[in-house]
Amino acid sequence: MNKDIRILAIETSCDETSMAIVKNGKVVESLTIATQIKTHANFGGVVPEIASRMHTESITLVLEETLKKFSGKIEDIDAIAVTYAPGLLGSLLVGIECAKTLSLVYNKPLIAVNHTMGHIYANNIEHDIVYPTLSLVVSGGHTDLLILKSEQDMEILGSTIDDSIGEVFDKVARVLGMPYPGGPNIEREALKGKDTYQLPIPMKEENFNFSFSGLKSYVINLVHNEKQRNNEIRISDLANSFQTTAVDEVIRKVELALKKTGIKNMILAGGVSANKYLREEMQKLCEKYGVTFHVPNILYCTDNAAMIGCAAYPLYRAKKFADFTLNAKSSENIKKYIEENK
Ligand code: KG4
Ligand code: ZN
Repeated sequence: MNKDIRILAIETSCDETSMAIVKNGKVVESLTIATQIKTHANFGGVVPEIASRMHTESITLVLEETLKKFSGKIEDIDAIAVTYAPGLLGSLLVGIECAKTLSLVYNKPLIAVNHTMGHIYANNIEHDIVYPTLSLVVSGGHTDLLILKSEQDMEILGSTIDDSIGEVFDKVARVLGMPYPGGPNIEREALKGKDTYQLPIPMKEENFNFSFSGLKSYVINLVHNEKQRNNEIRISDLANSFQTTAVDEVIRKVELALKKTGIKNMILAGGVSANKYLREEMQKLCEKYGVTFHVPNILYCTDNAAMIGCAAYPLYRAKKFADFTLNAKSSENIKKYIEENK
């Protein structure tokens, strides 16, 4: 029988200090997430300098907590995994230095994980990713549509050519007076409203790229103009109209991809996949095309280290270990990652 592999994973790329112990790339045996959201909400968004300082303050406490919740000992761990890209440079470095220290002290191999790959592999926790699959990554930093042909073979179909969808949820929420992070607040407000505002469709072209900055600017200008004229803004209706327009555009692109590729598996990943309207619309679309659809539990959609432990497992099996020269790559997006790992 094969030996169980346990990976201790560290995620500090943005405003969550998180560690997890994951067995065989699937079973989350311990998970701690220390979020800095309340602090950054005071500034309307993540302040990089504050984020890295808070990671430094909490990382040893998060390690202690993660080991406390784990039934074994740190010696039972087979490898240390860490997010090295993309993200905030100072924040990534805190996680990387912690990972290197643990790797050195306990003599365990080090595994470097791309954060977006982490979001995708969160789909292995409750289900198994079945290849080939289409994968849509929608987060604060990314909007990418990919074909995963196998664990090693990926192809990008399309990406955003400007803002990510999560960024636009956050900016629209801000102009509507909602705190950071905006996505969950837009979703809550949208439930109380109706799709009554006519908003521009983001990108009419029949390719797989996305564009959200036009929609964002339109909503921001609309709010400013209405305020100047002392007109009432129906916040719930505008939240609903924005969410509907943005999500419907994503669904339209996924539909094009399902039709063109004929692929029968679909997975969703990233913070915005916590959005219930998106989850439901994606489910309906996949049912229409007889496609098996999976999305992680909401806990594993937003940033967490369990997903990093999942993505590290195939790298462990392939013996793709990092050495102590490992450095943070703040802007290595999935496209660059795929090119460099061909
Ligand atoms: O994946 P994530 O935690 O961090 C990045 O890797 O970027 O994604 C954060 C993004 C934020 O923009 C946040 O507003 C958005 O995910 N988000 C949501 C929801 N929950 C989080 N957007 C829409 N609806 C939600 N329920
Ligand atoms: Zn993320």
